[in-house]
Amino acid sequence: MTPPRRQPARRRTAVLGREAVLATVPVAVAALLAAAGPAAAGTTGASGAGDPYFPLSGNGGYHVGHYDLTLRYDTAARHLDGKAVLTARATQRLTRFDLDLTGLKVTSVTVDRTTAAFRRAGQELVVTPRHALRAGQQFRVTVAYHGTPKPVTDPDGSADGWIPTDDGAFVAGEPQGAMTWFPANSHPQDKSSYDFTLTVPKGCTAVANGVLLGQHTAHGRTTYRWRETQPMAAYLATATIGTFDVERYTTRDGIQVYNAVDPREARAAAPVLKKLPSVLAWESRLFGPYPFRAAGSIVDHAPNVGYALETQTRPVYDSAPDLSTLVHENAHQWFGDSVSLTAWKDIWLNEGFATYAEWLYAEQHGGDRAQKTFDALYARPASDALWAYPPGDPGSGGKIFGTPVYARGAMTLHELRKAVGDEDFFRILRAWADGHRGGHGTTAQFVRLAEQTSGKRLGGLFSTWLYTKGKPNRA
Ligand code: TRP
Ligand code: ZN
Repeated sequence: MTPPRRQPARRRTAVLGREAVLATVPVAVAALLAAAGPAAAGTTGASGAGDPYFPLSGNGGYHVGHYDLTLRYDTAARHLDGKAVLTARATQRLTRFDLDLTGLKVTSVTVDRTTAAFRRAGQELVVTPRHALRAGQQFRVTVAYHGTPKPVTDPDGSADGWIPTDDGAFVAGEPQGAMTWFPANSHPQDKSSYDFTLTVPKGCTAVANGVLLGQHTAHGRTTYRWRETQPMAAYLATATIGTFDVERYTTRDGIQVYNAVDPREARAAAPVLKKLPSVLAWESRLFGPYPFRAAGSIVDHAPNVGYALETQTRPVYDSAPDLSTLVHENAHQWFGDSVSLTAWKDIWLNEGFATYAEWLYAEQHGGDRAQKTFDALYARPASDALWAYPPGDPGSGGKIFGTPVYARGAMTLHELRKAVGDEDFFRILRAWADGHRGGHGTTAQFVRLAEQTSGKRLGGLFSTWLYTKGKPNRA
């Protein structure tokens, strides 16, 4: 097996040194735009979901129940033609509302089949329907758009969203990139079902989330229809395109697996992907039933991306993953995908959990005990980047994917495990996945669950490991 990683922060490698430089600018711009935008009060939907890390991500005044995305991509010209139909419900009276969309040209917007006025303001697509929407009203927005999608650059310097490759595009939207390829209410607070109709040049494969409903080829193009019925945050949507070898099968638990692998990565990926059924079965034993009907992998050849993403039902990898990475991204299907964040400051609920899953996998498959992994990390000097900031509220300046979130987040869970014992610890993990399945969870709710399940007071443990600056003292 792959030896457990000693270097827990990882899903990306390239940019750590740039964090500080790039951190402040986009945040400052976002704050200015937010200030200039509509106030939350009255009858206009807010320009953001209220998340201070990404003030313009998501929007106020409505929820999207379903996205129906029809996209055609010309890989050579890098041109995207899109039509998005959003079925939504107003949560307040709305004379105006925003969607998130960046780049691309919008040619028309309709609300319930009536042409609506629209304008662009930074990442906001501001829509003014002919008739105001009543609070509680269901409505349908159709946006026609096209252009050459470009990724956004996150505060940590990484590319996020629609990232062109030499044979298509690597599409991963965490935390802000969904808006680079479809108009969205792009904050994990809003979860929706999705239909994708993706047309690409014949010979290319277009892979999205959920199950493949069908594919057909005509006039030199192939159309793939995908459906994800389970609620999904916009950042977890993908429509990755490339030349892929495809493998399909159904697991013993009835999960439909679809693996798409760039031939250049096939040799390295094969022995790892072979383990997917056993990894999912192992994770299901630990965390409870797999939360989705479909699973799989998209193994792209995208050397300058530098990370993988837990796209719902089907993680996308920038190159052949190692076994720990496969374990990590699939653990996110429970922790991060099925149970979503309500605010990005809680990111340790995703990354700490997925990292701890790697430790547990090693421990139960002949690798290092979790305690040994913990000890090796704890031995790092107080000056190490691991202790640079506490993981419970890492801050907006490119820190959400840093070592403290992954490694100290996992250490927090290990401390919890030691405090409550294995039996209660795994009961807590299963109750968390089960109780918040398809929905959301906050750190405060997790702490409460841990205390209720164990009957212990754990406030000190969590405040030390999640919120206290510097290297914690040993308990
Ligand atoms: N959530 C991903 C993982 O841990 C990592 C990730 C996604 C990421 N998008 C990113 C890291 C952008 C850095 C920058 O599996
Ligand atoms: Zn992760």
